[in-house]
Amino acid sequence: MTKLKVGILYGGRSVEHGVSINSARNIESYIDKHLYETLCIGISTKGVWYLTPSVSKEIEKGSKLKLHLDAENPRFEDEKGNLFSLDVAFPVLHGTDGEDGSIQGLLKAMSIPMVGTGVLGSSVSMSKLVAKQLMQQAGIPVTDFLFFRHDQRDAIHFDEVKKKLGLPFMVKAANLGSSVGVSKVKSKEDFDLALQDSFKYDDCVLLEEYVKGREIECAILGNQPPEASLPGEIIISSNYEFYTFDAKYVDGEAVKIEVPAQLDNAISDTIRSVSIKAYQQLQCEDFSRVDLFLSESGKVYVNEINTIPGFTNSSMYPMMWKERGVSFTELISRLITLGLERYKNSQRTEKEFQSSLKF
Ligand SMILES: Nc1ncnc2c1ncn2[C@@H]1O[C@H](COP(=O)(O)OP(=O)(O)O)[C@@H](O)[C@H]1O
Ligand SMILES: [Mg+2]
Repeated sequence: MTKLKVGILYGGRSVEHGVSINSARNIESYIDKHLYETLCIGISTKGVWYLTPSVSKEIEKGSKLKLHLDAENPRFEDEKGNLFSLDVAFPVLHGTDGEDGSIQGLLKAMSIPMVGTGVLGSSVSMSKLVAKQLMQQAGIPVTDFLFFRHDQRDAIHFDEVKKKLGLPFMVKAANLGSSVGVSKVKSKEDFDLALQDSFKYDDCVLLEEYVKGREIECAILGNQPPEASLPGEIIISSNYEFYTFDAKYVDGEAVKIEVPAQLDNAISDTIRSVSIKAYQQLQCEDFSRVDLFLSESGKVYVNEINTIPGFTNSSMYPMMWKERGVSFTELISRLITLGLERYKNSQRTEKEFQSSLKF
């Protein structure tokens, strides 16, 4: 049997470059080697694409790639002139470019089938602002929020924000991930530093009501219909004010993970159905991880959706499916199959409109 050629796209021009490498390493090791041949395509922090012998942090030691802009026969070419094509691309990229629809657009334009959410869902989910606005419209519970662009910086006054959102409140760069550019604000001094930090990374910042409570995540898989895992919980050590970058990736002792989360059945059902609703409202495809808050009074809020959730050793997404009896290897195969099925379905619609227009 010929194996399907899966291009693992990893690294990327994002603050989550390193996280992507850790996720991709796991995809490469757990992928079913009887069914798939992997081609590891590393994207450097400068945005240059390389073919690497395996997933590695030394991306630039690989062979620089060119892509032939030919949607009828899209091929990559390495430095030695070797050509190869992919049966399917699996972007294991987090954040800017990789998760925001840019690379999905490139793959789509080149008719390369891919795993995961397409251009529209990726970009709306990446924008914490647009995602919130869309969810609000669909009646999905989200926190109260305000937003400002950098050129409105002087119009943001601590006392007014405090009056609208209460204290503490959260300040976030609107389009990042991994808690980069996210701060908890308790005072005017915190506020000035928080804005400085968020605007360093983004042109738009979001200010949000703070929810005191539990951090819950729910894994969604599939398209018609999507399935929800049982929710899991991230219990963050009291040494941290919130789920910061260090708590996520640096300090191995910072969090305790519970899969499934200890929840009443009714709350668990609400979380699962609200997560599916959010996934559908944000046009997600194949898979996503929905992150929620459960307040002390028992109210559920959707915080955000990650269209390419982490696949590292401490990542919730694969853990939540494992709890449902889906192994890491089977999960990867399911994702690839979903991506290929969706590509096949997308070929059904006419690309050309026959008209008498002269051009
Ligand atoms: N409204 C909020 N209330 C309480 N904590 C929050 C709120 N928003 C964010 N946080 C904390 O900040 C962390 C990171 O924020 P999040 O919006 O998830 O950004 P990222 O995309 O970087 O993960 C969350 O996991 C949570 O710990
Ligand atoms: Mg988050």
